Amino acid sequence: MKICLIGLGAVGQGVLKAIQLKKEAIHERYGLNLKVVAVADSKASVVNENGLDEEEVLNYKKENGSLLNFDCRNNTNNNTNNNTNNNTNTNINNNMSNLNGIELLNTIDYDSLVEATPSNIKTGEPAKSLTLKAFSDKKHVVTSNKGHLALFYLELISSANKNNVEFKFEASVGGAMPIINFPEESLSSANIESIVGILNGTTNYILSRMTSEGSSYENVLDESKQLGIAETDPTMDVEGIDAACKTVILANSVLGINSTYTDVDVTGISKITPESINLAKKEGYLIKLIAEVSSVKLKVGPRLVKKNSPYAIGGTLNMATLKTDLAEDITIIGKGAGSLETASAILTDIINIGKKYKF
Ligand SMILES: NC(=O)c1ccc[n+]([C@@H]2O[C@H](COP(=O)([O-])OP(=O)(O)OC[C@H]3O[C@@H](n4cnc5c(N)ncnc54)[C@H](OP(=O)(O)O)[C@@H]3O)[C@@H](O)[C@H]2O)c1
Repeated sequence: MKICLIGLGAVGQGVLKAIQLKKEAIHERYGLNLKVVAVADSKASVVNENGLDEEEVLNYKKENGSLLNFDCRNNTNNNTNNNTNNNTNTNINNNMSNLNGIELLNTIDYDSLVEATPSNIKTGEPAKSLTLKAFSDKKHVVTSNKGHLALFYLELISSANKNNVEFKFEASVGGAMPIINFPEESLSSANIESIVGILNGTTNYILSRMTSEGSSYENVLDESKQLGIAETDPTMDVEGIDAACKTVILANSVLGINSTYTDVDVTGISKITPESINLAKKEGYLIKLIAEVSSVKLKVGPRLVKKNSPYAIGGTLNMATLKTDLAEDITIIGKGAGSLETASAILTDIINIGKKYKF
């Protein structure tokens, strides 16, 4: 399978690393040859139709900050599983620094787009245009992006269906935690009535620290920024916007509720005080930022949860309880973010496409 990867930040780099680590095992287990033929960041694109060497691209990006001036002629993947790799330079394109994402997709031969650009909750771009372009060219798409899914879920799914291609987005909710494919594949006999969970690791970390140390929201937020757990501008996380995007994605994809980001009732955690946390503690409760998905409620906000309940997870973990008719409650816990953790979900989506379409 020839992969075009657009977005080479934490997640995109994790994808390259995961492919580098796992491609031989994937070939042995599934007979699937993964070949990254193009990679783009915001400044440049690099292409090698014989397959880029993942490690060289990663090292270059880490050393230089961007892919500008990366020389593909020195970079030919020696993947022994790659039958088409003749190690000649004749068809290898050099750095294509003047191409934007759409132009890149028009230029190269690929099977699946892996899209890991920033989540844009105002326009959904550039992810939306890249994804629709790939679909119209009959290419599969795997994404970790939340913005376009939260705004245009129905339009994107309809386009994928119309073009008979796959659209996979396991990584967009809960990072490594399997929450989207799992119900479809392993709970198909049951009706999923609701999902209630903790879908944002940054806020969970902040609330956990406020609880264990009695510190103020402002102090813990500063500490979280220093540790790289919170972004410099943490608005998306602390105001519940990130969790609301995930709520909408779950509503549409798992519960079949046609909804968009503006349908979610959202409250963040910035007004939670150490006093309210202490009061809750005395009564045997914790305060958590809880996302609720059901046909009657799409909501993100602080809620009291019992100390010994499945919701009492600490640190940056995510969790979700699926309420079903036949199997009762099923709870999943996992790493909601992280470079390689999120890449693991993307790689699983890639493998599932590869298995289905026999690449
Ligand atoms: N980080 C996580 O743990 C995690 C977990 C789950 C989901 N996600 C989602 O996954 C996506 C990627 O996250 P991330 O943490 O990797 O973000 P990031 O570190 O900010 O990386 C974003 C990447 O996209 C590139 N980019 C920006 N605009 C572009 C454009 N117009 N064309 C091509 N490339 C462009 C950036 O280029 P430059 O390198 O040149 O700036 C960068 O390489 C986001 O949508 C995020 O919400 C992240």
